[in-house]
Amino acid sequence: MTATAKKRLNVVFEDQQPVTGDNCAELIEGLSHKQKQANPKYFYDQKGSELFEQITQQHEYYPSRVEKAILSQHASEIANYCGENCVLIEPGSGNSEKVRLLLEKLQPATYVPLDISADFLYQSAQKLGREFPWLNIHAICADFSDQWHSRTELESGRRVIFYPGSTIGNMKPESAQSFLSNLREWIGQDGSVLIGVDLQKSENLLNAAYNDAQGVTADFNLNMLNSINNLVNADFNSDHFSHYAFYNNDQSRIEMHLVSEKSQTVNIDDNLIHFAKGETLHTENSYKYSLVSFTALCNAAGFTLEKSWVDDEELFSVHYLSISKSQKI
Ligand code: SAH
Ligand code: AVI
Repeated sequence: MTATAKKRLNVVFEDQQPVTGDNCAELIEGLSHKQKQANPKYFYDQKGSELFEQITQQHEYYPSRVEKAILSQHASEIANYCGENCVLIEPGSGNSEKVRLLLEKLQPATYVPLDISADFLYQSAQKLGREFPWLNIHAICADFSDQWHSRTELESGRRVIFYPGSTIGNMKPESAQSFLSNLREWIGQDGSVLIGVDLQKSENLLNAAYNDAQGVTADFNLNMLNSINNLVNADFNSDHFSHYAFYNNDQSRIEMHLVSEKSQTVNIDDNLIHFAKGETLHTENSYKYSLVSFTALCNAAGFTLEKSWVDDEELFSVHYLSISKSQKI
């Protein structure tokens, strides 16, 4: 932890980072598939988190801009649904920019930003703590797909999961369903979920959002290789790969890949992985939902959609979910 900022009294930081050996085994497993793949969590070292922040400022990347507009416009109503004094948990909190739009109205008892990117999380939590001295912040560095909650004692109060950014879209629908279903364990019987979901739209808008003119998304994609080199003992050379992102209409998802520019062999912890020229490493899916398909996903996971907010152009959606009556004991 390279924390230079003065520690704040209203911020607690808990480190539950996955160990290197687990990352190594997961990466080698993904690279052993016919279509080589890596979990998108490996984008997010310090540089990756900064690049994602830059992506959100690109004109083509409409999701952040539109979701922030929805949250600002409906902050009072959203706060009424969530209720005061909740324990607000944000998995994949990044720079915690969006929660700022809700805090004054929502007045949570505690805010729990949870992210894999340790230093970036620490800095973001400290900054938020300086800006909101009244806010109790319990930051947790952990993998949100992991059993982090069984190792953590959270502050008492009704739990609300804030899951913006359409980060749910980075999971395949079957994983998204089990992730949502598992959230029921995190929040208990009286908890709820506020979630942002990107919507299906014109292929041109989608392709532009993941191929911005400044090349920030390309840098973000390529940075995954440096992030992996630093995390485990690997020797990817990002100069020998290129960014490729496209909308896969059949699957309703953006796919991001890194294309090997030449025939090459990469060493990961003494495992030699060969890439043919033109072969790709699949780095991310970003699924786009319709309101109907997202409702069906929530219902299958044991949630009821209480309320949805959508912008006028129907680019992005925010939903308030509660546990379905049939799931309550
Ligand atoms: N919520 C923010 C950031 C979204 S970017 C927003 O809406 O703008 C996705 C965030 O999730 C990143 O900060 C990344 O570090 C984090 N993340 C990705 N995979 C993760 C995982 N498996 N566990 C924990 N955090 C993860
Ligand atoms: C974090 N996640 C929802 C982003 C997305 O749009 O899928 C990550 C991203 N990838 C490329 N640009 C942004």
